Amino acid sequence: MTTPPLAVDMRDPAFRNDPHPLLHAVRARGRAERDVVGIWLATHHADCSAGLRSNQLSREVTRMPGYAQMRPYVADSMLERTCERWMLFNDPPVHTRLRRLVNAAFKPAVVQALRARVAAITAELLAALPTEPGATFDLMPTLAQPLPVRVICDVMGLPAEDFAQTKQWADALALIVEPVIRRAEREAASRAGTEMVEYLRAHIARQRASGERESLLGTLVAAHDADDGALLSEDELLGNLILLFVAGHETTTNLIGNGMLTLLRHPEALAQLRADPETLMPGAVDEMLRYESSVNMVARHVVAPYAIGETVVPSGDVVFFMTGAANRDPAVFAEPDRFDITRSPNPHLAFGAGIHYCVGAPLARMEAEVAFGELLRERPGLALAEPETAPAWRKLINLRGLEMLSLREA
Ligand code: HEM
Repeated sequence: MTTPPLAVDMRDPAFRNDPHPLLHAVRARGRAERDVVGIWLATHHADCSAGLRSNQLSREVTRMPGYAQMRPYVADSMLERTCERWMLFNDPPVHTRLRRLVNAAFKPAVVQALRARVAAITAELLAALPTEPGATFDLMPTLAQPLPVRVICDVMGLPAEDFAQTKQWADALALIVEPVIRRAEREAASRAGTEMVEYLRAHIARQRASGERESLLGTLVAAHDADDGALLSEDELLGNLILLFVAGHETTTNLIGNGMLTLLRHPEALAQLRADPETLMPGAVDEMLRYESSVNMVARHVVAPYAIGETVVPSGDVVFFMTGAANRDPAVFAEPDRFDITRSPNPHLAFGAGIHYCVGAPLARMEAEVAFGELLRERPGLALAEPETAPAWRKLINLRGLEMLSLREA
């Protein structure tokens, strides 16, 4: 007898508020399940890890089912033109070439050199928070959102004072990794893409005139100019600058927001971390990434029949590798629903796996370590302003983050 399908509808507000009960139920049923719209869901850690490393699966947007038919209608859209060039949406060899060009900027040693600058930005943001006992504030617009945008502006060599505008564009563009996107959101993303390209073109012209080579923008413009675009075309340059901007901010914002919420809901872990932040902080950040991941899923499309357990997924179908579910798989993590900042090893998939493994992972980790380190040291009395109230999760399916996080100074 075949098991009746499980109505997995990730648009359900219950999934948004807490995806884990449903993801546990899907994982317990088997290794590959379809959701209500026919997308395959892989929830086991071993299958997600293998799938993200497989070359039978593609990330290339132009090889997506239906894309060839759709292409003539979007060919003039700046958004599609730039997204097609993202390293994230390309398979080798294009992916390999593009990734090599940005890798150097995110090497751990380069990122560590930015630590003092990140600490200075964090201190400046924290200094603007109210200090009177009982005062409340929202951590999202005061620290979690501005910190990653200001850091990525710095890394790229874009003026910090433009951050409100660049953040608005990046917010609109980030929605294109959502499985469900409304027409108005798509149009806003398209407009943001066009405006951001114009903005970047102006900066590239300025950068060329100055000859500066220190920033990521400078390095990539030099790579483009070295052989007249043969190594990096103009569209690839613009597209990947936008990708770095978009990929580098919302995910890190969510790590800071989700992580702070989790810490405040687990006072014992918080006390443990406060007692020895030097030793425990890196592991605590990884546990935050595992426990309440900023990215719920990573999509791939099948280009040659692909087996997940007994199920063979046919070519042309899409699989969502539910990394948020894999990160709570009891086959890999003992007591997966327990938040344990000393968990070791912690092979979570919050940054993906395989060739598209997050290039910004060292930067995101360092930003979070600095932000939590400063927050715990400078604001030892912080608590949830309304501990009994359900957290305000954003109405998104893939990117898991908070609309607001109200805190109170003791
Ligand atoms: C907590 C923060 C972050 C999380 C959870 C995160 C998560 C991820 C994940 C899951 C992927 C893989 C997507 C896939 O395989 O389809 C990815 C790729 C990527 N991320 Fe991140 N990311 C974070 C921060 C950053 C930062 C700070 C940057 C850059 C400044 C960045 C840039 C990128 C880029 C460029 C890719 C594509 C890499 C490739 O295609 O080779 N990310 N990220």
